[in-house]
Amino acid sequence: MKILLIGGGGREHALAWKMAQSPLCDQLYIAPGNPGTALHGTNLDIGVSDFPAIKQFVEENTIDMLVVGPEQPLVEGLADFLKESETFVIGPNQQAAQLEGSKAYSKAFMDKYGIPTAAYKEFQEGQEEEAVAYLDTMKLPIVVKASGLAAGKGVLICQEKKEAEQAIRDMLSGTSFGEAGQTIVIEEFLEGVEISIFVLVNVDECAVLPSAKDYKRIGEGDTGLNTGGMGAVSPVPFANEAFMKKVDEQVIKPTMRGMWKEGMNYRGFLFIGLMVVGEVPYVLEYNVRMGDPETEVVMPRLKTDLLALFQAMKEGTLEEEEVEIDPRVCSTVMLVSGGYPQAYEKGKAITGIDQSVHSLVFHAGTKMVNSKLQTNGGRVLAVSSFGEHIQEAVDTSLAVIEHIEFEGKTFRKDIGKDLIS
Ligand code: AMP
Ligand code: GLY
Repeated sequence: MKILLIGGGGREHALAWKMAQSPLCDQLYIAPGNPGTALHGTNLDIGVSDFPAIKQFVEENTIDMLVVGPEQPLVEGLADFLKESETFVIGPNQQAAQLEGSKAYSKAFMDKYGIPTAAYKEFQEGQEEEAVAYLDTMKLPIVVKASGLAAGKGVLICQEKKEAEQAIRDMLSGTSFGEAGQTIVIEEFLEGVEISIFVLVNVDECAVLPSAKDYKRIGEGDTGLNTGGMGAVSPVPFANEAFMKKVDEQVIKPTMRGMWKEGMNYRGFLFIGLMVVGEVPYVLEYNVRMGDPETEVVMPRLKTDLLALFQAMKEGTLEEEEVEIDPRVCSTVMLVSGGYPQAYEKGKAITGIDQSVHSLVFHAGTKMVNSKLQTNGGRVLAVSSFGEHIQEAVDTSLAVIEHIEFEGKTFRKDIGKDLIS
């Protein structure tokens, strides 16, 4: 099989690492990839939104399978663009990608299909006063969300009405998130525990992958600014069989039914962000892709051949496949640039990766300059390790991290701590 993977972060390195192990993999290309993906395939100098170049490569090289890592090209319609090409696309079409690309759309979808989610109302540019008036019906804190894609920064948890009012005005006017904020969702704050559920969906069949928890804040004890993710752990201790059965019945099945009824023909990864309140799994959001850094713990735990699952999707036999999961814990700790998620410098020399024999070091934001590795982003490397329990897995990653050096190296030592009882 010839595969083209779209993307160039830690998630894509983990996907490339996993797919390259498959006996079904004859050729693996990554566009644009990074120095980590280059260890498992051939990187192409093609951007994730350069649809004509992607299509040309797919057709000239008779690519059998196109796997899309990030949401942006999906929301922009990459799967639709390749409809006439003879390649099997793992990634939903533009209509279905709205489940991530528009929070207003996904909330209406959840409402329509009876999927538990926070009570909400949608407002658009020009409805500032109605939106502000709606605040009076709500308890504090209040959650204000930009409906469009905002790189994980479009959610504000407001402790005071004044703050919520300011957020509403800044968003609807386009000041804070441009067009992405000109439709907003105001919703009730849910207090509970978060968990990420991953499902491989093939129109009317699916396979549930390991669940994970990610750590979004920059600071230990979940403090400070939101980031793309500072670490992750899989499995999540409370996500036992009974819990997953409930998620299947209350969330996955109704979501599949809804997608079917809407004629979405959903094909690809579906990431369901849940907030568990008491016994109820509320959906915070859908993402139409794998999570990052969750992929860096989910893929290592997936024993089943990922390409065999993709192949089964093509044949419509996904539910006949057994999904085998490593029972051990996998955790990943992200190394980020000093200053991230605010301004940071790139181009710092990275040393010490080759000493990591007990762990997997996935590249997120790195580049190779004159055969030397340098930082090239806010999130630089994800160090994933196995353990019999969370502490052991995290400690193994932390030991590896001691040997990796670059100026400004920053990481959290408390990944998974809240899950250890
Ligand atoms: P989202 O992009 O919608 O998943 O929101 C990003 C993060 O904001 C989530 O991972 C939660 O930590 C938090 N969040 C979003 N919506 C709510 C809510 N209704 N109640 C409490 N926290 C929320
Ligand atoms: N780690 C959260 C995300 O990928 O959206």
